[in-house]
Formats: sequence, structure tokens, C-alpha cells
Amino acid sequence: MANVSLKDRQSDDTVEDQTRDFYDSTGWVADDHGVVAEDRLFREFGEDHDAYLLKTEVKTAALLEGLGPTVLFAGPGDLPANHVRIADQFDKVVCADISQKSIEICRKKLGSKGEYHIASLMELPLPDASVDAALSAHVIYHIDKDLQAKAIRELIRATRPGGRIVIVYCNPRSPLMIVQLALKFLKINKLLGKQKLYTHYYSSAWWQQFAGDNKIEIIPHHPISSNQAKALLPARFLQRAFYNWAMRFEDANPKLAAKLWTYVTIKIDRVS
Ligand SMILES: C[S@@+](CC[C@H](N)C(=O)[O-])C[C@H]1O[C@@H](n2cnc3c(N)ncnc32)[C@H](O)[C@@H]1O
Repeated sequence: MANVSLKDRQSDDTVEDQTRDFYDSTGWVADDHGVVAEDRLFREFGEDHDAYLLKTEVKTAALLEGLGPTVLFAGPGDLPANHVRIADQFDKVVCADISQKSIEICRKKLGSKGEYHIASLMELPLPDASVDAALSAHVIYHIDKDLQAKAIRELIRATRPGGRIVIVYCNPRSPLMIVQLALKFLKINKLLGKQKLYTHYYSSAWWQQFAGDNKIEIIPHHPISSNQAKALLPARFLQRAFYNWAMRFEDANPKLAAKLWTYVTIKIDRVS
């Protein structure tokens, strides 16, 4: 058998292999204080963010209210608080994630209420129309750009007509992402943190390919990523002022906020 060097193996790895390796070896591994690497890398916002975070959680959970009994979490990771809040609204929670560590954490948190699959969104081990609702937060943009549409079709296939899919995604045309992607293109994006995972972001127009049999709505989710916030909001008074402003602005101007915010929620209602 020919020798395969580590370098060759890495270049042969698919995006999915690399993402799985990252989450199983680093992302969902807790340090001595019980903090997973994902928290340190992507979720550090500071205390002044708490009120905004809670508002976002409540808003996302409200999108999935009254849709039971079964919800699918596609890429639940370590089942953060917003997922737990949504799980409370359903009788049964189906968790599907490529990371074994993620599924172990979900099983610990949800116990017998959950059904667990170490599985890819490319091929969900679920019958057609078998769930009432689905949530996939911060997952799709970590999938190979040529496969993201297939993942969305899988979510639609598994969700019953009349059901709803909620996707948290990044908006590459938002002002902060335009600057960040330009810095990345010029290879000077170190200010915003070293890229640890594959990402590809489609703009809002891309989502219209799923309209027709489905109703699509794009809603503001979050104005800024944690790395952007670390670079731009170094002082607590700035964070407080920014998140207070963001809460008021998105309530008064939801359509404009969906264009300006770094993260959007894509709401897909499966009509038929
Ligand atoms: C950034 S984390 C998001 C976790 C959680 N949803 C949240 O909002 O914090 C991405 C998760 O998606 C999973 N994932 C990435 N690609 C996937 C795929 N193709 N199929 C299933 N899970 C995937 C990863 O293993 C990881 O647990």
C-alpha cells in the first residue's frame, strides 16, 4: 500500500472532514474551567451583550412556537442556551451533527427527550416530512459552497408541509462583513482573528432559489460577530451603547437591519 503523507491526507480531506476534526478535537472540548474552545473563539461578547443575547434568543424561539411535537436541530453543537429554550417548546428533539462530541453533549443535556444521529446534513437519516420544524444555527456557512443548496433541500425534505425551518446565517453584504472579507482578500485580516474553519457566505439573493414551494423571509439576527466586536468595541461603555442602539434600531427598521447586520435569520415556511 502506498504511503500517504499527512500533508496529502489533509489536502484530500473534504470540508466536512476538516469541520468534524475541528469540533471533535478542539471546538467541543472543554478546558479545566469547563469552557469549550468555541466559546473562547467565537462567542466572547462581554456582559453588556447579555440583554441583547436574551432578546435574540426569545425572538428566535418565538419563530418556532406552536409547531410541535418534533423539532430537528441540524448541527446543534454543544446545545447552547438558545437551543435549550427551543427544545423546551417541543416534545421530541432530533439532533443531527457530524461531530461525535456534539452528540455526546446533546445526549447529556436532553436525555430521553432526544433522538441522536452522528450524521451529515448532506444525508439526514430521517424519513420525508418527519419533523415539524428545524433549526440550523451557524452551520450552513461551514458547508462546502457547492453543497450548501443540497443541505437546505435536505432540511426542506425532512420538514413536513406547513412546517418551518429557521437558519442562522452570515450576511456577506453587511458593512462589517464587506470590510472583513476585503481584509481577508488582502490577507490582512489577522486583526479579526485567524480563520480556523472553512466558511462561505452567500448573499441574501441566493436564498430565493428555495422560494416557490416555500415562503422565504430574511430577518435581522445579530449585528456583529464576536471577533468584530473585540476589534471595534474594546470598552464596556461602547458595547453598552452599541447593543442598546442595535435593539432599538432593529425593532424600528427590521428590513434595513437585515441588510446591515452581520448575521441574519432565514425563515423558510414549507408550503407544500
Ligand atoms: C458553529 S457550530 C454551531 C453550533 C450551534 N448550532 C450554535 O448555534 O452554537 C457548527 C456545528 O455544525 C456542525 N456541522 C458542520 N457541518 C455539518 C454538516 N455537514 N452536517 C451536520 N453537522 C455539521 C459542526 O460539527 C458543529 O457542531
